[in-house]
Amino acid sequence: MRSGTRQTINSYFGSLAFDEDGKSVILALCGAAIEISALAAQTGLTTEALGDTTGAQNSDGDQQKQLDVLADEIVSRALGATALGAYFSEERDDAVIFSQKGMLSLSCDPLDGSSNIDTNLTIGTIFSLFRHSEAGIAGKQLPHGREQIAAGFFAYGPQTSLLISCGDSVVAFGLDQDGLFRQLDWQIAIPAQTAEFAINASNARHWMPPVKRYIEQCVAGIDGARKKNFNMRWAGSLVADAWRIFRRGGVFLYPEDSRSGYEHGRLRLIYEAYAIAFLVEQAGGLASDGRQMILDIAPEQLHQRTPLVFGSKDEINHLLSNYR
Ligand code: F6P
Ligand code: MN
Repeated sequence: MRSGTRQTINSYFGSLAFDEDGKSVILALCGAAIEISALAAQTGLTTEALGDTTGAQNSDGDQQKQLDVLADEIVSRALGATALGAYFSEERDDAVIFSQKGMLSLSCDPLDGSSNIDTNLTIGTIFSLFRHSEAGIAGKQLPHGREQIAAGFFAYGPQTSLLISCGDSVVAFGLDQDGLFRQLDWQIAIPAQTAEFAINASNARHWMPPVKRYIEQCVAGIDGARKKNFNMRWAGSLVADAWRIFRRGGVFLYPEDSRSGYEHGRLRLIYEAYAIAFLVEQAGGLASDGRQMILDIAPEQLHQRTPLVFGSKDEINHLLSNYR
């Protein structure tokens, strides 16, 4: 199908029964993503400024990079023109309250995969949209995974693309040269079985027994207990690793480990894990912290970390059996 004949995100939303304020929030995010992707593509800036650290650290202690900060400003500015109640950003200590009456809040990792900014690898923007049961809650109460009404992520790679679920399947859009997001014609369903895993294997000596055992058996291949060969991929950007898993299956692991500061893994529950888990469940996969489903975790702190394993259902179930 020629790109011009594929439906745009505006026409997709035109026929979708979904919260009208939520639609305007997501369309505003699409505008922000186009800006961020253009910024990330500026070669001079990428090496000379965008990858430089600002010298500051965000609330999680990560070094902030210029592009992290710029992306957060772009997203926040775009959202200010919508009916959103509150904006939670990984780059900010506290929520930004836009409207006391708003029923919706949005959590966002404006620039995921910061360590890849300077390396011409895929980075992205992750978001979750929450609808609260009453007005006045947005921004004052931590959002819960099961309050999500939509979630998605933009990937800025060879293609700028969006994977999104509004609670009814997962759909993908690609940014065409005319500046419009058009739907990609794939059926997004994570296959239940896989022979591909993603983990930062340099941390192997720090892993806990369930993960250690699982990976050892994968690596043992056809001669081991699993009796099949596995392949490994680690992009180092959650968005890139997730995109691949939605495309062809696989499992992703960022578990807790014995390093100081990694007792709950590395990734953030509210900014990263909730969104990925929402999409994964919609696509027929599983997302867990090893003990419970990610979407069932009650948040305790805005910036809390969580172990995260997700992907192909049978493989995640196999891994989870190691925890029991
Ligand atoms: O947001 C954190 C993040 O950059 C993810 O995108 C990625 O999956 C992970 O960190 C990579 O962590 P590490 O550098 O420890 O491999
Ligand atoms: Mn991130």
